[in-house]
Amino acid sequence: MNERAVFVTRFGGVLAAVGSAVGLGNVWRFPYETGAHGGAAFLLVYLSCALLLGVPLLLGELALGYVSHKNPTGTYRSLAPGTKWHYLGYAGAVCMVLVVAFYSVVGGWTLCYAASSLMGNVPDFVEFSSGVWAPLAWMTLFFVVNAVILLGGVAKGIERASNFLMPLLFLMLVVLCVRSLLLPNAVEGLRFLFKPDFSKIDGSVVVSAMGQSFFSISVGIGCLLTYGSYLPRSAKIGKSALAIALLDTGIALLAGIIIFPACFAYGVQPDAGPGLAFITLPNVFLQMSGGMIWCFCFFLLLAVAAVTSSLSLLETPTAILQEEFGMGRRRAVIVASCLGWVLSVLCAMSFSPQWSEQLSFGGMIVFDIFDKLTANIIMPCSSFLMAVFIGWKLDKKVFADYGITHRADGTTKWYGSLFIMAMRFVAPLCIFLIFLSGLGLLDGFLK
Ligand code: PFF
Repeated sequence: MNERAVFVTRFGGVLAAVGSAVGLGNVWRFPYETGAHGGAAFLLVYLSCALLLGVPLLLGELALGYVSHKNPTGTYRSLAPGTKWHYLGYAGAVCMVLVVAFYSVVGGWTLCYAASSLMGNVPDFVEFSSGVWAPLAWMTLFFVVNAVILLGGVAKGIERASNFLMPLLFLMLVVLCVRSLLLPNAVEGLRFLFKPDFSKIDGSVVVSAMGQSFFSISVGIGCLLTYGSYLPRSAKIGKSALAIALLDTGIALLAGIIIFPACFAYGVQPDAGPGLAFITLPNVFLQMSGGMIWCFCFFLLLAVAAVTSSLSLLETPTAILQEEFGMGRRRAVIVASCLGWVLSVLCAMSFSPQWSEQLSFGGMIVFDIFDKLTANIIMPCSSFLMAVFIGWKLDKKVFADYGITHRADGTTKWYGSLFIMAMRFVAPLCIFLIFLSGLGLLDGFLK
């Protein structure tokens, strides 16, 4: 009998992977990155990266987990024994802890906004985020929620939560979308989002758009590899990869269609930075009848989306601690969460005027450093290496035998050779070239 945790149903497993992909990256990070990088031009590059690079990489990552039924480190160890590839699994887990550190700060903001709207009054973003105790307390609560669900186990905790809450979030976004489109000046927002000004595309825009696309679909560092390893054998990996990428991208677009018209309707600058969603959205709600109820529902669902993503971020280091270091699940969850929490304190405090000087390096606060470093550098680098591994190192028979690239009768699936080409040439080359274009502008990586 297989003693590893598995998702009970194929549908539930895929939904959990969608839960990992859909989160603050779509509703919080996508609009503020799009706003900061000029709107439609950024969107165009983002969409190209998501479809051309994201989908095949997602397929490759899910497939690696699906064939090995192991955590990322164990996967590379079993597929390439006696090599150093398994360090890629460890590197991914370290990156996840860095992501969870800043992600949980925003998760905490979301919880606070949900709770405050229930009390009938939403905090001023700058005042709240630059405080000390409130952001710390909400961020800690966010970690506690994660740890409690993780201790419930994979099938019971993650799957149950995702099955129920993801469709609800989607519904709420559609309703809000309609609401935002009816605002005065909504057309300006749509123009910003959809009418590209190609002169805005430069190396830093391309690097950021690639980073955003990888961050948003959770690809490259092994989250989806771990989820792939929990999928039942009946899962359809190709279709799942496409569904995850399309749903994720669709939800980011919905968020954009909610936030940019609202920006233009209420005179908020689209490049307002990480606070954008938290400044814009309460404005939309306040003008609606029953606004606080809307606000509450929205931020609650956003918090849920954030939790389903942070669960995947914490699940992988937990699986590695369990399976590679022989820790019990409870201890592994606690160690991973505590590590994330300590770093999260630094991220949260870097917004506070009291600490921001000590917590800044090269003119950037720790929060931004973690954010840009993970999304724009580590995730693409790790994706590059994963593509090279699949394209050049892995025996092609493995993916053929497990029905990833071939059918049971031995014939190639329509995307079989395309996928291998993408792993061998397209993904590594594109990522490399995009990095070069970013380097050409020197500060391109971290803009
Ligand atoms: N994709 C998630 C989001 O869009 O919110 C964030 C995320 C999850 C990033 C898992 C990276 C990751 F490995």
